[in-house]
Amino acid sequence: MAGMSAPAHRRRPEELRSHQWYGTDGLRSFSHRARTRQLGYLPEEHLGKPVVAILNTWSDINPCHVHLRGRAQAVKRGVWQAGGFPLEFPVATLSETFQKPTPMLYRNMLAMETEELLRSYPVDGAVLMGGCDKSTPALLMGAASVGLPTVFVPAGPMLPGHWRGEVLGSGTDMWKYWDDRRAGLIGDCEMAGLESGLARSPGHCMTMGTASTLTAAAEVLGVTVPGASSIPAVDSGHERMAAKAGTTAVELVHRDRRLSGILTREAFEDAVTTVLGLGGSTNAVIHLIAMAGRAGVRLTLDDFDRIARTVPVLANVRPGGRKYLMEDFHFAGGLPGFLSRIPDLLHLDRPTVAHDTLREQIAGARVHDDDVIRPRDNPVAAEGGVAVLRGNLCPDGAVIKHIAAEPRLLRHTGPAVVFDDYRTMQRTIDDPALGITADSVLVLRNAGPKGGPGMPEYGMLPIPDHLLRQGVRDMVRISDARMSGTSYGACVLHVAPESYVGGPLALVRTGDPVTLDVPARTLRLDVDDEELARRRAEWTPPPVRYERGYGALYTDQITQADTGCDFEFLSRPGNVPDPYTG
Ligand code: FES
Ligand code: MG
Repeated sequence: MAGMSAPAHRRRPEELRSHQWYGTDGLRSFSHRARTRQLGYLPEEHLGKPVVAILNTWSDINPCHVHLRGRAQAVKRGVWQAGGFPLEFPVATLSETFQKPTPMLYRNMLAMETEELLRSYPVDGAVLMGGCDKSTPALLMGAASVGLPTVFVPAGPMLPGHWRGEVLGSGTDMWKYWDDRRAGLIGDCEMAGLESGLARSPGHCMTMGTASTLTAAAEVLGVTVPGASSIPAVDSGHERMAAKAGTTAVELVHRDRRLSGILTREAFEDAVTTVLGLGGSTNAVIHLIAMAGRAGVRLTLDDFDRIARTVPVLANVRPGGRKYLMEDFHFAGGLPGFLSRIPDLLHLDRPTVAHDTLREQIAGARVHDDDVIRPRDNPVAAEGGVAVLRGNLCPDGAVIKHIAAEPRLLRHTGPAVVFDDYRTMQRTIDDPALGITADSVLVLRNAGPKGGPGMPEYGMLPIPDHLLRQGVRDMVRISDARMSGTSYGACVLHVAPESYVGGPLALVRTGDPVTLDVPARTLRLDVDDEELARRRAEWTPPPVRYERGYGALYTDQITQADTGCDFEFLSRPGNVPDPYTG
């Protein structure tokens, strides 16, 4: 983990942003110093030093971040050693497992909290700690809106699951064995064993789900210690990485290397290349577009589709790959090893928090296992894992993780079976009277950004149990929802505009023929325009669900999936005054 040499120039105290709080000759400064004595610090422990805010998403309810309470001590150790002054801020925790209806509803809330804490307190640089799905984009969106020198500490994947001699992937194998239980293949006793074996240590999901995808994106964007994103959460190397993040944050302040200089268009293109080459989560599409927006970079669905056609999937990690988990990926070389296989597809001359160029950062990186991180001539898939679809059912786009679908479904026409909402779908999906066959196209609406609300991960609609018993394990499914990064199947997601605002998904009726053609990148409702116009005239918007509170703000402000689901007032350009310097 060699980094940059110590900065030649150390910032003088009066050059620090925190000087406005601590160092000026006025009543306020006096009061801030007096209150820091109250916190138990001597003047020489903090005055004139870079203040590094450590934003920690630790919580007792978040198994993916439960180790971060202790890990923050390692970050502080690094900050002290480098001559900085660490201050830890507990921030909202977004636990993918527990938070309902979905933590996606709260991603922008954590982004707001991150932004406002960094701006309103005496902070010169920041270390952000998180990794469970939405935490990574939330923290980076908020930090990007402020632009201070910032380092991200990924929470790290949990250890591989074990059960009955099998190695289990969290999430992915839960869906698989739940289907087996519904098909009557395993009983309650075995399920109890699975319950203890599926997730066996702190850390985020150890498949290439949303968490691993987004922390890898953070690493290639250049905001982590090199090699950080795949270090298992409970590995001693994770503690060393956290300490290094602390020292790096202080060095960045001295160099005045800001997040704004790192989160460039080139960096986001490399992040897209990376998540596609990893066979990563479809959620990355929404999050990277939102993160880029905060950095003033306009990233679009077309960027994803264009780049997807140039990058092969090389990471053989479940669920996109067939076999391995994040610990295998780590010991096979981790992200630096992966990037060493695709240098021609990257922008190597851009800076990171640790090096003057990405080229320097990945120099010497190697792959130690060609089955885990495949060579270019033996990829897991020839093209990136996500395809962007267009057509009269999704004028503003939709996505499908086609590498995680049964190939026979990638060109498919079938009759729609429409569910107006998730609860109705749950209640009725197994009803034989619906006449669902393996060729049917399951459609779920009112599960988008406003309609969900928060675009819950409902997109992998369950297969009816009578079909499961016949051995059917995949069907074409279409929704304006998202899907867990650990899920799989021929699921068309993020249909935009969503049905709740009157997108064409609102007009589909049971029995309508729908055609999915992934090679042609199209999704079509085979109903003529006049009939659709007639249905549109009859359509009435669904009732308002949140009359007050955060949900009302969310519904009012949320943008559609193709533009990243940020709040309109957070994503628009414009100045926000700094509390001291305006
Ligand atoms: Fe936290 Fe999967 S539940 S990353
Ligand atoms: Mg998830």
